[in-house]
Amino acid sequence: MRVVIIGAGNVATVLGRRIKKAGHEILQVISRSQESAKVLAKELGCNASNNFADIDKTGELFLVAMSDAALNELKEKINVGDKLVVHTAGSVCKDVLKDVSVNYGTLYPLQSLRKENPDESIVIPILIDAINDYSIRIINDFAISISPIVSYTQDDQRLKLHVGAVLTSNFANHLYCLALEFCEKEKVDFKLLQPLIEETAARLKSQSPCDMQTGPAARKDVLTLDKHLRLLTAHPKLRTLYLRMTDSIMNP
Ligand SMILES: NC(=O)c1ccc[n+]([C@@H]2O[C@H](COP(=O)([O-])OP(=O)(O)OC[C@H]3O[C@@H](n4cnc5c(N)ncnc54)[C@H](OP(=O)(O)O)[C@@H]3O)[C@@H](O)[C@H]2O)c1
Repeated sequence: MRVVIIGAGNVATVLGRRIKKAGHEILQVISRSQESAKVLAKELGCNASNNFADIDKTGELFLVAMSDAALNELKEKINVGDKLVVHTAGSVCKDVLKDVSVNYGTLYPLQSLRKENPDESIVIPILIDAINDYSIRIINDFAISISPIVSYTQDDQRLKLHVGAVLTSNFANHLYCLALEFCEKEKVDFKLLQPLIEETAARLKSQSPCDMQTGPAARKDVLTLDKHLRLLTAHPKLRTLYLRMTDSIMNP
C-alpha cells in the first residue's frame, strides 16, 4: 500500500521500519517539527514535511502516530476525504478521526516501542478497529503484513488493555528504575538482580502471576518486613510505595 505517516516519534519510527520491510511504499512523513520529519523520512527513503497542507493525498493509508492530545486537533489540519486513516493510541476512541475521513479506524501496537531499539525480532501485537467493514478489511490485511498477532478490539476493550499495559510494562519498569536508584545509593550491584527479573517474567509463560507470588509480604513475614521498612526510612518515597505494595499483596 502507499502509506503516509503522520508523526515522527517512537511509534512512527518503529512501525515505519516494519511497514517498509513488509514492502509497502512510504510516500511521506509529516510531523510538527521539520527536523524530526526529516530524520525519519531519510531513514524510510521518502519525503518530509511539517506543513499539513502539503499532505500527499495519493496515499492509500494515513497512519497517525501523534501524541494523544494532538489527535483532537487533527481535524483542523487535514481532511483526506474517503482515504483510510488510522491512529495508534490505546485510550483514544476511533471517532476522533470522524472529521478527518469517511473511512477510519485504529491500529494500536500493544508493545513498548522506542525508536533507539532496532531489534526487528520484537513481537508487536496489533489491535485493530474501524468504522465500517470496508475499513476493517483493509486495516486487517495491512496489519497482518507487519505483525504475526492481529486482533479485532473495540474502543472499550482497547482502553482496558491499555490499562493492563500500563500496569505490566510502565509500572513494572518504574519499579526497576526505583530499584536501580536504590541499589546505586546503597552501593550494591543492581545487575545481580537481572536473573531474578528474567525468571519472574519467564514464569508468566506457563503460570498465573497470582499463584507465583513470593517474598516477605506473601509469607506475612513481619520481622523481615520491619527490617526493610527501617532501612527504607532513608528513602521516604520508596518506603510509602513499599507499604502500599505490601498491603496490596497481603490484602488481595
Ligand atoms: N511508544 C509506545 O510504546 C506506544 C505504544 C503504543 C501506542 N502508542 C501511542 O502512539 C502515539 C504516539 O506515541 P509515541 O510514543 O510515538 O510518541 P512520541 O515519541 O512522543 O511522538 C509523538 C509525535 O507526535 C507529534 N506531536 C506531538 N504533539 C503534537 C501536536 N500538538 N501537533 C502535531 N504533532 C504533535 C510529535 O511531533 P514532533 O516530533 O515533530 O515534535 C511526534 O512526532 C500515542 O498516541 C501513544 O499513546 C505509543
